[in-house]
Amino acid sequence: MFNFDYYNPTRIIFGSHRIKDLDAQIPANARVLVTYGGGSAKKHGTMDEVIQALGSRKYIEFGGIEPNPHYDTLMKAVEIVKTEQIDYLIAVGGGSVIDGTKFIAAAVYFEGDAWQAWIGSTPIKKALPVGCVLTLPATGSEMNGTSVISNTALNAKLSNKNPLLFPQFAILDPRKSYTLPPHQTANGVVDAFIHVVEQYLTYPVYGKVQDRYAEGLMLTLIEEGPKALVEPENYDVRAAIMWSATQALNGLIGVGVPQDWSSHRMGYYFTIYHGLDHAQTLAIILPAVLEIQKESKRLKLLQYAERVWGLTDGSEEQRINHAISLTRTFFEDMGIPTYLRAYGIPESSIDEAIIYLEKFNLLPLGEHKDIGVIEVRKILSLSY
Ligand code: NZQ
Ligand code: ZN
Repeated sequence: MFNFDYYNPTRIIFGSHRIKDLDAQIPANARVLVTYGGGSAKKHGTMDEVIQALGSRKYIEFGGIEPNPHYDTLMKAVEIVKTEQIDYLIAVGGGSVIDGTKFIAAAVYFEGDAWQAWIGSTPIKKALPVGCVLTLPATGSEMNGTSVISNTALNAKLSNKNPLLFPQFAILDPRKSYTLPPHQTANGVVDAFIHVVEQYLTYPVYGKVQDRYAEGLMLTLIEEGPKALVEPENYDVRAAIMWSATQALNGLIGVGVPQDWSSHRMGYYFTIYHGLDHAQTLAIILPAVLEIQKESKRLKLLQYAERVWGLTDGSEEQRINHAISLTRTFFEDMGIPTYLRAYGIPESSIDEAIIYLEKFNLLPLGEHKDIGVIEVRKILSLSY
């Protein structure tokens, strides 16, 4: 196992009817900006619950944060924070609202060009405190220090990771996910599953705890994901999915082990240029990554085949192929097509994706940094 530091300061407030408990997490004299997305949090009463919990604190609402949150929209919130002397941010929504709110929290203190600062020209030194109320279990943003922002003017979608971006608290009420449309439920389950895969399907380093933990999360998502589509208001099912998704990317299973993330990096192009949901891009690309990386991932693929899919018969090659095919079937059964052509995307996108990856210096990818232009082309051609 590799050396590691593990730090996670986010308080989790989990369970039914917990939104009222945010009162105890925020200073009584806080001036709060409550952020939300396109309206689901208003429509389903979550915003009302949050505002009630704020009591007599001064607050301003900021809605309209898009899925794959846009830099321009978020900069409007930054102005409001500055002019209204806001000192606490509460995000109400899924990964996009939470990521967008983390950006606002940091951008308030940026000097000069905020986009340049965000993409790394100056390190984040300070950020406002953020709390969140999660409505879509998927990204793990509620308990990590990552934020992914899209700049549509530059056709860029880039992530930032910083300990200052961890939310101070996250309220996880599984009932809040009852109202998700089926395809967003599916997106969440598949995104969380692939977060685990990115940290597990690499090569063995005797990370026994991380492996067993990761396998437990994957098995839970495989078992509970399809149930949530059939019984959207089954509390136990929603709770299992919500807690799995948070733990899939709160850093714990990734400590001391190699990590891949190539499917994620390749996927961003298809969201920004072709409008695919984040999880759709992953469901398309991951099976091809596993196929192309069969040799370098061999030992972990065999472990995955046996422990996650129960495959013990046949040759090693057969077990690996079967595990990759069951992975694809899981995504398809959740209702997410796993080939680019199913979304009407032109084959020329493969070349464009390579140009995108080169432009933003994202290559080479993978745990061995052995996915360059040739391999990306192979992977995306297989994904087509
Ligand atoms: O905008 P509203 O009206 O709220 O509707 C949203 C949105 O249209 C809807 N929704 C959310 N909760 C709902 C609901 N509809 C009904 N009932 C509810 N309870 O769902 C739609 C999608 O929401 P979004 O927040 O975009 O989805 P998700 O949570 O999947 O977040 C995706 C974003 O997170 C980034 C992705 O790249 C993408 O930008 N990621 C962030 C990561 C992180 N911070 O660690 C890691 C991930 O790999 C990912 O990259
Ligand atoms: Zn993801």
